[in-house]
Amino acid sequence: MCGIVGYVGKERCVEVLMEGLRNLEYRGYDSAGLALAMPERGIETTKEVGPLDNLAGAIGEKYDDFFKVRVGVGHTRWATHGRPSEANAHPHTGGGAPAGGPEVAVVHNGIIENHAELREELRERGFEFRSETDTEVIAHLLAERVAAGEPLREALVGTLKRLQGSFAVAVMSAEEPGTIVAARHQSPLVVGLGEGENFLASAVQALLGNTRRFLFVENGEIAVLTDSSVEIQTLYGQPVERETFEVDWSAEELGLNGYEDFMLKEIHEQPAALQATLAGRLDTDGVVDLSELDFDFSGIERIVVVACGTAYHAGLLGKYAIERLARLPVEVAVASEYRYADPIGDESTLVVAISQSGETTDTLAAVEASRGFGARVLAVTNTQGSLLTREAEAVLLTKAGPEVGVAATKTFLTQVAALYLLALELAGRRGGLSGEQLSDVGCGLRRSPEKVEEALGLLEGRVGEAVGVFAGARCALFLGRGHLFPVALEGALKLKEISYLPAEGYPAGEMKHGPIALVDEQCPVVAVLGEGTLREKTLSNVEETVARGARVIAIAREDDAAAARVAQVTLPVPEMPEILSPLVSTVPLQLLAYHVAKARGLNVDKPRNLAKSVTVE
Ligand code: G6P
Repeated sequence: MCGIVGYVGKERCVEVLMEGLRNLEYRGYDSAGLALAMPERGIETTKEVGPLDNLAGAIGEKYDDFFKVRVGVGHTRWATHGRPSEANAHPHTGGGAPAGGPEVAVVHNGIIENHAELREELRERGFEFRSETDTEVIAHLLAERVAAGEPLREALVGTLKRLQGSFAVAVMSAEEPGTIVAARHQSPLVVGLGEGENFLASAVQALLGNTRRFLFVENGEIAVLTDSSVEIQTLYGQPVERETFEVDWSAEELGLNGYEDFMLKEIHEQPAALQATLAGRLDTDGVVDLSELDFDFSGIERIVVVACGTAYHAGLLGKYAIERLARLPVEVAVASEYRYADPIGDESTLVVAISQSGETTDTLAAVEASRGFGARVLAVTNTQGSLLTREAEAVLLTKAGPEVGVAATKTFLTQVAALYLLALELAGRRGGLSGEQLSDVGCGLRRSPEKVEEALGLLEGRVGEAVGVFAGARCALFLGRGHLFPVALEGALKLKEISYLPAEGYPAGEMKHGPIALVDEQCPVVAVLGEGTLREKTLSNVEETVARGARVIAIAREDDAAAARVAQVTLPVPEMPEILSPLVSTVPLQLLAYHVAKARGLNVDKPRNLAKSVTVE
């Protein structure tokens, strides 16, 4: 939530900041702003409510000399304290006229929990507040110290020691126009390295068009950037030596490549994303090899998966596979609950933390909570070098490439595939199933990229009819059983995220205990039938909804006559070993959500109120 970016170097600051913000817009798009060190004029800020194009327009109108700027910071906001407005948009400033002293500007991602006390204290000392944000206290505290003669770094250190909460901040001062100082505690911050220029941002994606060389700033560290140097220290002044980290994502992956939206592009990238995630981890005989993890799997008696949102649904599918294949008990917990649950476990508990971004605050906190009982932690994430990778003993990287659409698609399928790999690894070690049985699943998993490709082909031109079923809908019910229940949950989440239609994902057998009351002609039922043992049971439940006027969309094999009989529309999926069928059954639900939202004229990549990465509690 909220993205920050900073640049110091050449006369292309505005271009770099705007490109950085564009690539960070997934973190929030309530407002955006820049603070620029204008040659001979000092710090000037420009802020606009709404999407980044508004800010770009305002900068173009305001300046004919913006191409001369060499230093600046920028921010894209997901509102926490104070509604989206120009006054609440970052950067926030302190000092300058009429307060006196050199002007400073601050961009912040995180939450200052003691902001009300600090605001009161500053008011008593005569500071006037211009916004309702928690961040503005940082600007005034900093300005006060700079006015008292402290260099910017020391002034920021002194300011940060007064703050409780989480932050990644970047600040600049009219007194030191060639410098940006940044620090972090709990919220992410990376420094990008260039030649005669240096960068900072909330995430590497912001800077891929400019550099692939990064330094990660850790909790409690402060970085000072000039055009020719980057110095990292702890808040207590100890110098830090940090190794450069090279990422293998490219700027091209952040483009639309001819697609109308990122979500559609990312749905179509799923075969390649699966391929990359499985490569080198599964041989031609379907035998899994996770030796890259260098992880001690011995003595594990129980698994707890912690995750949020879509990653939680992947965890539910992981539970199904691990329990079936490895016969190990798995608990799947919503991270924001688990962190406060005084969780139970011991050294034989493996905690699997799943997070696309690797920076979801609750997931990180859940990991920390599990440390209390001595858990071993394995991270499943798509983001190299993210906070989660540094908290875990081992990292099983999903290799989906950068995902821009706020609604997760390709990262979900790759998380599920990674969990299947883990299930096979654990099953192999525990020896419950024969090598042949495991190799059958492994071979099926190896074929999943082509099966997902096949699903995309089968669905081409077929989803429009299903969208017709949603005409006039006021809600929707997604039903599935067993391993297809999490698929139903994910389908419902996708639909509500981007089309704003209330949608329930429910175990089909539980539907009679409440949700069936929703059913009428305006509440379509999406039935994830698949194939296998529970298909018949789900079908009976669907019949019950049809008897009450429901219009049904079935996710089933093309030749499923029973599905065709109950459903207005069948969205076909190819044949797949039962346990792996969520990989193909998810695809029609993603496309359904996408096309329903498009038919409603909505922005699928940036749904209202959401942010892709939730870095506050
Ligand atoms: C937000 C996103 C979801 C995502 C969830 C967890 O809610 O909109 O798409 O599933 O956060 O994010 P993570 O990065 O931890 O997977």
